Amino acid sequence: MSPPGRPKGEHRSAQREGGPAAAAAAAATRAAATTAAAIDVRGLNKHFGEKHVVRDLSLQVQRGEIYGFLGPNGSGKTTSIRMLCGLLKPDSGSGTCLGFDVIRETYAIKREVGYMTQRFSLWEDLTIRENLDFIARMYRVRNRAAVVRETIEALGLGQRRDQLAGQLSGGWKQRLSLAACLLHQPQLLLLDEPTAGVDPKARRDFWDRIHELAGQGIAVLVSTHYMDEAERCHRLAYIFEGRLLATGTAAEVVAQDRLVAWAVTGPELAPLAAALRARPGVEQVTPFGGTLHVTGHDEALLARAVAEYSADPRYRWERIEAGLEDVFINLMHDAAKAGPS
Ligand SMILES: Nc1ncnc2c1ncn2[C@@H]1O[C@H](COP(=O)(O)OP(=O)(O)O)[C@@H](O)[C@H]1O
Ligand SMILES: [Mg+2]
Repeated sequence: MSPPGRPKGEHRSAQREGGPAAAAAAAATRAAATTAAAIDVRGLNKHFGEKHVVRDLSLQVQRGEIYGFLGPNGSGKTTSIRMLCGLLKPDSGSGTCLGFDVIRETYAIKREVGYMTQRFSLWEDLTIRENLDFIARMYRVRNRAAVVRETIEALGLGQRRDQLAGQLSGGWKQRLSLAACLLHQPQLLLLDEPTAGVDPKARRDFWDRIHELAGQGIAVLVSTHYMDEAERCHRLAYIFEGRLLATGTAAEVVAQDRLVAWAVTGPELAPLAAALRARPGVEQVTPFGGTLHVTGHDEALLARAVAEYSADPRYRWERIEAGLEDVFINLMHDAAKAGPS
């Protein structure tokens, strides 16, 4: 989580301070914000120097929705998230986060969203409790001591509350980071690879908690490389080289791609994979343990390639449903082959 800056003269979200008129205006803004989508942006672009890093990004995330953000390293996930939370100004595009304008109302957005950065960004030489207290103070959380106590309890951090953050394992650091971005009760969470390097049990607990929060109406945009996590999202987007290549539910993303898949099991899969890759119609051959997934879009050509090997009794072939990972790998290769446009 990144501490919000406090630029002078930018007190748009001053509902915690100010007179009755300011409070009424803030209440009206909040009312508008609660009816709109949590994220509704169109045509966002970002360049770093000559490099076009995010291209025409349009994204709508509803309240109570968990939206997965997938794509290989360097594809623009973090840059997109930083634009959505008001830390980075898009070169062009428009839209709102929690009803606030992503270009003009970045201070309010920074105050209102919970942002968990890709790398642990809390203070390693403070304890869990001190970190949370410090952040609560920065956000001017009311009843700070009680909120910190309740947050420690709710996230199961009690037994380690006096331990230095720098001494925590990955799973505990992640739990602390999530606690830190929940202190000010945000209605939108932007989580950037929150479970990278975290063990399976901690990942599962984390996702259970994310679902609980979504159940309370909080919107969550979460980037991840894990397919099991992608499948736990209500909807997802796949981004490659700054461009969204697919969006929808996991089932929709798979269905849209119309990828045909075969699975083959048997001995000496490496030479078989090499031979299959050379056949027309075979777009990808991917090992999954003792099985190869053989995929392509041309059903007849692919069937012909499979037929050449299916007479070999050592191998068992089966036509399968393509999975999310098969589809992502194919989307990425197709886009890479097509080159920049
Ligand atoms: N501050 C920056 N200055 C220059 N290039 C950057 C900066 N931040 C990110 N990039 C580049 O933008 C591209 C997208 O990066 P990023 O958004 O971090 O991708 P992801 O989070 O999907 O791994 C990468 O090529 C990265 O090197
Ligand atoms: Mg990133």
